[in-house]
Amino acid sequence: MGVSNLLSDKYSVVYIAVLLCVLVTGTSGCLDWDFLTEGLFPSLCPILSGTTSFMKDLFTAESKHDEGPITKELVTECVKCGRELTKSASQRGKQLVKNGVCLDHCTPAMHHFFSASLPADVKKASEASQEILMATKMLQVKLCSSSTVTPNTFMSFLENQVIRHDSIACRPFSVRCGSTRYRSIDGTCNNLERPAWGRRGAPFTRIATPRYADGIYSMPGAKSGRALPNPRLLSTRLFTDAPVPSRVHNYLSMQWGQFVTHDMSLQIMEVTDDGGIQCCIGDGVDVLPPEWQNDKCIPISVPEDDPFYRYFGVKCLNFVRSITTPRDDCSLGHAEQMNTVTSFLDGSTIYGSDKKLASKLRSKRGGRLKEEYKEYNKRGFLPTADDKKASCDLRNVSEPCYLAGDGRINQTPTLAMLHTLFLREHNRVADILSTLNPLWTDEKLYQEARRIVIAEIQHITYQEWLPLNFGETYLRYYRIIPSTLYSNDYNEDVNPGVINSFSSAAFRFLHSAVPDTIMTCPSNYYAAYTHRLSDHYQNPSLLESSTESFDDVVRGILLQSAAESDPYCSGQISNLLFKSRNAWGLDLIAMDIQRGRDHGIASYNDYREICGLRRAYTFQDLSGEISQDRIYALSQMYECVDDVDLFVGGSMERAVQGSILGHTFQCIVGEQFYRTRVGDRFFYDNSEMIHSFSPEQLQQLKKASIARLICDNTEHVHYVQSRAFELETQWNPKVRCDDTGAVPRVDFTAWKSSLFD
Ligand code: HEM
Repeated sequence: MGVSNLLSDKYSVVYIAVLLCVLVTGTSGCLDWDFLTEGLFPSLCPILSGTTSFMKDLFTAESKHDEGPITKELVTECVKCGRELTKSASQRGKQLVKNGVCLDHCTPAMHHFFSASLPADVKKASEASQEILMATKMLQVKLCSSSTVTPNTFMSFLENQVIRHDSIACRPFSVRCGSTRYRSIDGTCNNLERPAWGRRGAPFTRIATPRYADGIYSMPGAKSGRALPNPRLLSTRLFTDAPVPSRVHNYLSMQWGQFVTHDMSLQIMEVTDDGGIQCCIGDGVDVLPPEWQNDKCIPISVPEDDPFYRYFGVKCLNFVRSITTPRDDCSLGHAEQMNTVTSFLDGSTIYGSDKKLASKLRSKRGGRLKEEYKEYNKRGFLPTADDKKASCDLRNVSEPCYLAGDGRINQTPTLAMLHTLFLREHNRVADILSTLNPLWTDEKLYQEARRIVIAEIQHITYQEWLPLNFGETYLRYYRIIPSTLYSNDYNEDVNPGVINSFSSAAFRFLHSAVPDTIMTCPSNYYAAYTHRLSDHYQNPSLLESSTESFDDVVRGILLQSAAESDPYCSGQISNLLFKSRNAWGLDLIAMDIQRGRDHGIASYNDYREICGLRRAYTFQDLSGEISQDRIYALSQMYECVDDVDLFVGGSMERAVQGSILGHTFQCIVGEQFYRTRVGDRFFYDNSEMIHSFSPEQLQQLKKASIARLICDNTEHVHYVQSRAFELETQWNPKVRCDDTGAVPRVDFTAWKSSLFD
């Protein structure tokens, strides 16, 4: 690595510091984010919390001539500086890559970057967002240094104001919506009044004020001002590697949860033009010194006495901040992360979230999706990824590596298996519709089959999966379960966007349900084979290793238990995630904790209050929801009960009756699935809309089930439990697929239209 270049980077920090001083003393200039927040900020703005009675005087302009301290000129100056700082941060990132600070292929860190390059629109939004964050920071520093206003007061003022500037490369979102029978691919125009809601690229929504140290973007610290506990230490101390098999849920239930997640949410990490960002020395020897780190690095350091990594000399796990995006109105304010897929439960994993990919996935004949045929199997497989080497971790090029609507498709063979079932289902439905309606065009067949498949996904999720996992009573209370035929509660005031704390904390608790192994089972059920999960990350070849292997995987995941959802997690994800050919991998639990901090997710205590529990003032106040031994463990790790991370506190709670979640996570997950249903104009059982299914069609769609999906789209799986997310028992025995009383079939005759339709 070129030392001279690094030295010159150091000098640029000093140079920036000088500029900052100039700014603070009244003249304009620019400053470095980390330098500012970690070094100078406390001395500039000593009161970091509380409010000031000067707010009214400071921020309200009395007359036209008196604009208050936030003048147009000041905003212009801050925006200009924000732009320069963004540019210099990006140049610094490029320089680091030139100097050799970039990730090697086939390392766990590299596999964690699902996409090594950003789509142009995502990159543009991310850059605009950086400019806005820098400008906000400048404004905060300027005001805090020149008046008695506190940073928090400034931020709460900004929450209620729209301050934006024309020179920022961000335009308030606008799109013209027509009235159509089909949902758009990118999620726009679902809500006709607010067409940006739920679209690909939207900011995650929030239900609590973010916990950034500076209110804008800095990683949060403890209340005392010291650092929060190390995420890896929390992972090893509180989330023991001892998964317990569930007595109710099978592996398929866990797998469906991940599939639903990927349909609704994707946070991607910042990358450079060259790919993944490196934050550790070598493969994890130590944390890179700050001057060698990209600004987006937030590596997780590993304690010396770590029970696992110490044997491999690993002291650092690579970790990078998520992409941020401007608010829809481009206003200044705190950081919002970008959801790079549509928020709706709309089959985006199958069809894609952007038009280009969606088009690429279509065969353009008979409404079908592209599929590949193998000589030994009558059923189709997913098409091959463009760049197998970049998308998968293959031992040789003949192994499969798939392309689908979501970039995470190859993460595990069982995830790829569900994707394949839906590819086959789409084509099966398109073929039936085409036989019923020979005059329908490719476009019409594609859209109608897509509409049906999305309805099946929504029905299976809301009718089978949610009640099983979170309890029917609670879901009725939340009005989440669809009614017998139509429901009539679409509400255009409900934002269907994914809640940040849902995808950065609450729903991730189901990582604890991931078992150690993948089981495969031959058709005679005489034996079962187990495969370590960590040997199959980013390599779906288990699905194609023999003529029967796809069906063997399906039988296996019906038979195999998920792990219990509790703070016992498999070492396969907490030590060996994406291990590839190495002896060690990443820690998903530590990553969950660090991701929550990266996104400024409010504390567990804040969420207790939001969810109707009493705020805790001592650790003992948690006793209503958390057992004594876990309270003790928390008190050993955190200085103060207010510091407890949402992911950690929520995971420690006792499950509520009938659910796998404790009260706080149940509240967040319930809120999300309420929004996902009531805020989706195209939700499958909405009535009286131009796109609503007829009563006869809807009656048929309500027969869809996960069991039927398997029966219809496998070659030799002839038996399945009718409640296929649950383990086989004497009350839930395997039944024959052709027993349509036990596993009803969806009849598509109601889709036959008149010749002139
Ligand atoms: C073998 C199974 C699984 C693996 C290997 C896995 C792995 C991962 C990884 C690597 C991330 C990104 C971490 C980050 O950078 O912050 C992630 C995110 C996430 N996972 Fe999992 N996961 C699995 C199963 C599940 C399940 C069963 C659920 C829930 C039912 C789930 C829910 C989530 C959620 C909500 C996110 C955030 C999604 C986003 O917005 O990007 N995962 N998972």
